[in-house]
Amino acid sequence: MTPPFCEAYRAALQVCRPFVVAPAEHLEHLDLDPLGVKIDKALRLDPTRLSSQLFLSWIERLDAFTFGPQAMAMPRWVFYDCAEWPSALFGLAARPSAVSPAVRERFEVASRDRVWVPVSLHVAIPTVAPGEFFEHNVGSLGGELGLRGLGTFTKALGCALLRASRLVGAAQWTGKALGMHRRFGPLELRTAFTPAHSYPRTLTYRHATDPATLRRVVEGREPPDLALTTWVRIEDQALRRLQRRLERGARSWLAGPLKEGPQGLCAPVRLEPGG
Ligand SMILES: CC(C)(COP(=O)(O)OP(=O)(O)OC[C@H]1O[C@@H](n2cnc3c(N)ncnc32)[C@H](O)[C@@H]1OP(=O)(O)O)[C@@H](O)C(=O)NCCC(=O)NCCS
Repeated sequence: MTPPFCEAYRAALQVCRPFVVAPAEHLEHLDLDPLGVKIDKALRLDPTRLSSQLFLSWIERLDAFTFGPQAMAMPRWVFYDCAEWPSALFGLAARPSAVSPAVRERFEVASRDRVWVPVSLHVAIPTVAPGEFFEHNVGSLGGELGLRGLGTFTKALGCALLRASRLVGAAQWTGKALGMHRRFGPLELRTAFTPAHSYPRTLTYRHATDPATLRRVVEGREPPDLALTTWVRIEDQALRRLQRRLERGARSWLAGPLKEGPQGLCAPVRLEPGG
């Protein structure tokens, strides 16, 4: 059933259509009508078919556009091995006339071309824990289309497509994506400082993606407030201290947006002792 989408997401649906990239034999495991937004047959792309080649090259360019500036763009084989086969690559596509000249140039398409080019994408990979997915990629060119919240909307639809119960993912403390993930909160912090990642100042978040959470997000409602326990400075020593508490069994959640204070950027954290 289609929830009452908030204005920003209704605006996105005026210009965008959903697409999925997955082998045809996997489609039966996906919700091809996520949150009531039906994926047309023409936009169900099978990565094992030659006919998908051009669209997949646009996906690679979209990723280079969004993640390239952070030096985290992925080669095409990573999409195939880690997303399209084991899971599904979801996103929203638009007509070339709707995107900026810079994007058209990047995709080598003309304004009049009657094709759909990808403008956002979402990848979450199933983990060994039933119902849990690892969020591997969210990218959006919303700014190039003048659409607010395209990343959030794509993530919500992508979770519905996969019928995920909960999501785990890695995000940089100072990255723009944290605000997007927070809309799905409360965000539990599974790590606060992560040397296993290329960027140790990364947190590992976990949040629910059940139908009630996704509905709240696409209706544009804020996540529930959590009582704050402490402010944590976004610098290595403070993050390591929080990390050590987590390793000793404490649980923590992000209790609100990060704020710039006299001591620099700080995160409001709810901490419950454990262990
Ligand atoms: C992170 C990223 C996916 C966000 O995409 P986006 O299209 O800008 O989408 P967001 O959902 O974050 O929304 C953008 C703005 O719309 C706002 N918004 C979101 N939902 C909204 C809603 N329902 N109503 C009104 N505004 C809304 C957000 O608060 C945000 O506002 P801000 O710019 O003032 O903070 C995009 O910037 C990107 O591709 N970044 C590079 C790659 C990356 O870092 N990916 C994430 C790591 S996995």
